[in-house]
Amino acid sequence: MPTTPEKPFYIFLYPQAKQQAIPAALAHFTKDGSLYVGYGNKYRNKNESLPIDPILLPLNQKEYILSEGCYGAIRDASPDYWGRTVIAKMINKDINEVTEADFLLYKNCERSGNLDFRENLQDCEPNIEPPLSEYLDILLDTAKHIEKGLYIDQRHLMLLAQGSSLGGSRPKCTVIYENFPWLAKFPSVRDKYCNAKVEMATMTLAQQCGITIPEMRFMDINGIDVLLLKRFDRKISESGISRLGYMSALSLCKTNEHDVFAYSYEKIAEEMSKYCPEDRIEFFKRMVFNVFCRNTDDHPRNHGFIIENGNISLSPAFDIVPTPSVEGINTYVTHAMNIGEFGRLGTIENLLSHTFHFGLTKYKAKEIVRSILEKCLSWREYFENAGVTEIETEMFKNSFETRWKNVL
Ligand SMILES: Nc1ncnc2c1ncn2[C@@H]1O[C@H](COP(=O)(O)OP(=O)(O)O)[C@@H](O)[C@H]1O
Ligand SMILES: [Mg+2]
Repeated sequence: MPTTPEKPFYIFLYPQAKQQAIPAALAHFTKDGSLYVGYGNKYRNKNESLPIDPILLPLNQKEYILSEGCYGAIRDASPDYWGRTVIAKMINKDINEVTEADFLLYKNCERSGNLDFRENLQDCEPNIEPPLSEYLDILLDTAKHIEKGLYIDQRHLMLLAQGSSLGGSRPKCTVIYENFPWLAKFPSVRDKYCNAKVEMATMTLAQQCGITIPEMRFMDINGIDVLLLKRFDRKISESGISRLGYMSALSLCKTNEHDVFAYSYEKIAEEMSKYCPEDRIEFFKRMVFNVFCRNTDDHPRNHGFIIENGNISLSPAFDIVPTPSVEGINTYVTHAMNIGEFGRLGTIENLLSHTFHFGLTKYKAKEIVRSILEKCLSWREYFENAGVTEIETEMFKNSFETRWKNVL
């Protein structure tokens, strides 16, 4: 990814319950790809000021050089593959030619968390809103055209770009529904089953297992399935809809995205013990659930934290989708993060190997594992209620059932 050397920009932050962002720091990428961040003196000395990133950029220091470039909460506020594809289309450039600074500076109102990035100190609030859910048919069509490389109407593309700044690789857009922003997850042309229904069924089952999930709605837009998830980094306050801080588990651990060998549930739990120790039990449940439903895409950017009034807590869960498997193939299941003594292996023995990181006794951890496994074995009920077809349901038999049937 090319970087623009020395092009300065400002990092703004929306104070809690405020509609206007205020400038917090000046930043620029250096020629070697590092990111310089320097807090303004006035901002730093105000008692009520919030850090841009409480872990990586606390206010007790004025200047930082992030030698690994854009990472931490700043990276979490920048789009991923999908959002980047839409921005590149909007500015009519090849995605590989767009710089990290360009992605940050692309005006958008719906990025994750409470940060914003502006070229000038005087730049006013971006005068854009995410599209209303009434436009979902146009948004779906535009997203499909992007994936297929077909002609796209510029006005429709602009509508999609206004809500396409969240992370992740699947097509999506933030829309206003019932006067509040929701993340709408679209089907992809590459899907082999109805993702929206499978995700909804699995998330509902996760909730039954004691996992907090955002409010969800399923929508059928002219025969196309869309899953709506209420944005958990937004909140209704007296002055309107305000923003909460957000960081991924990757940022909580100060880990660089490319350092995949460092991805670890244990490490995240260890960091959580400093900021939100009581949330570690739910985090343990999420790890256990991911193993029992065979969600192998459980990397640290699929776990998040909300920062409210300076306090860090586990965000509601998201992107829990089982990986389908064929009987006899891939019976050894490995996850995207280290689980315990036996590395990334998705086994009960591994889940129970290092329970102390989660503040749990072996006995309590066993109880949780047993209770989640029992609930997961009734997975078919949830798939049926969500309207997943019988043929599609069978694709997940080995994910939920085969390995665990005789364990209880
Ligand atoms: N309900 C939500 N509210 C706010 N942010 C969310 C919500 N759900 C997901 N996100 C953010 O959006 C990103 C993409 O969502 P995700 O479901 O992981 O999409 P994908 O399937 O493309 O990976 C996540 O990494 C997370 O930061
Ligand atoms: Mg994801």
